[in-house]
Amino acid sequence: MKLTMREIREKARERVKARCKVCPACNGVACAGEVPGMGGVGTGRSFQNNVSALLDHRLVMRVLHEADNPDCSFDLWGNKLSMPVLAAPIGSIPGNLSSDLTDERYTRCLTAGCRAVNTTASVGDIPNPDGLKSFLEWSKDYISLTIPFIKPWGVPEVISRLEMAAAAGVKMIGTDVDGAGLPTMRMMAAPVKVRTAPELAKIIKRSHELGMKFIVKGIMAADEATICADAGADGVIVSNHGGRVLDHTPGTAEALPPIVEAVGNRLMVLADGGIRTGADVLKMLALGAKAVLICRPLAIAVHGDEENGLATYFGQIRQELIEAMRLTGCANLAAINRKIINSRVR
Ligand SMILES: Cc1cc2nc3c(=O)[nH]c(=O)nc-3n(C[C@H](O)[C@H](O)[C@H](O)COP(=O)(O)O)c2cc1C
Repeated sequence: MKLTMREIREKARERVKARCKVCPACNGVACAGEVPGMGGVGTGRSFQNNVSALLDHRLVMRVLHEADNPDCSFDLWGNKLSMPVLAAPIGSIPGNLSSDLTDERYTRCLTAGCRAVNTTASVGDIPNPDGLKSFLEWSKDYISLTIPFIKPWGVPEVISRLEMAAAAGVKMIGTDVDGAGLPTMRMMAAPVKVRTAPELAKIIKRSHELGMKFIVKGIMAADEATICADAGADGVIVSNHGGRVLDHTPGTAEALPPIVEAVGNRLMVLADGGIRTGADVLKMLALGAKAVLICRPLAIAVHGDEENGLATYFGQIRQELIEAMRLTGCANLAAINRKIINSRVR
C-alpha cells in the first residue's frame, strides 16, 4: 500500500529520532551545529540562509495564458529526465543519522527511487577507495544515471577514482570541492585539500578522456565559477554543502544570479540548498539554475518508506513544480525567467 507523505514522515521520525526531528519545516534551526548529524556547522546560519534566501522570493501568479499543461521534462546532456530535480549525494547514512539503514540499503533505495521517477541519483565518497568501489557496485543497475562526487583528495588519488568510476560505467561525475572544509573529514584526518585551478583543469581533462561529463559542486562565487569554466567543467553546482562547511555564508539562492551572469552561457549551472517544494524548484530555475538537487528530504523519505518513499516525495515535487509552472504561465522550462518572481530586498 502506498504511504502518504505524512505517513512517510511519521515513520521516518521514529527511525531517525537520534539525530533528526523531521521538523515541519526542514530549515536548520533545531539541528544547528550538528555535523555529523543533519545540521549545518556552527550557528547553522548557512543552512538557515539557504531556506530564508528562497523565502525572499515570491512567485508572480499569472492565470491568463495558454500554459495549462506545462512540460517540466529536462535534458541533461542527452539524458531525458522527467524533471530538473536531481538527487544530491549524502555520505555516511549511519554516521549522520545513527539509524539502522546501511549505506548499501540507502544507495539501493536511492537509485531504485530515482529510476522510478526518471531522474539522476548520486553517491558520495569516503577516504578509503573501497568505499567508492562499494557505492559504484550498489548503484550498478543505474550507473549511467548515477553521479559520483569525489572528495578533493590529492590529484593522483582523484584521477585513480575517476578511472575506477569510468570502468564501472559512470558517464557523469563531479567533485565536491567544498569538501575541503568538512568537519567530518577533519575528524577522520582525511587528506582533503583546497583545489588549485591547474589541478582542476588536469582532473577535468582526464575525466573527459575517460568519456565522463564533469561537474564542480560547492561554488558560491562568480570568480570561482569562471575558474571552473576556464578549466573546462561541463557544470557547476551552486552549493554551500547544505551549510556543512563554512558558517555564515549567504543562501545559495542569493549566490546563484551573479554566477549565472558570469558563466551561464559557458556551462550548465545547477544549484542546491534548502529546496523542499516544487515552488522552491521553480524559484531556483527563475533565478537561472538549469536544474536543482535535493538532499535532506530524500534521506527522510527513504527512512519513511525506502525506495517508494523517495518516489512518492519526488513525485510530489514534480506535481508541485508542474502546478507552479501552470499558475505562473510557464509552458516549459525554457519559458521560466525572472519575470515570474518578485524579490524582497532586505
Ligand atoms: C548528512 C549529509 C551528508 C552529506 N554528504 C555529502 C557528500 O558526501 N558529498 C557531497 O557532495 N555533498 C554531501 N552533502 C551535501 C548535499 O549533497 C547537498 O549539497 C546539500 O545538503 C543540499 O541541501 P539540502 O540538504 O538543504 O537539500 C551532505 C549533506 C548532508 C545533510
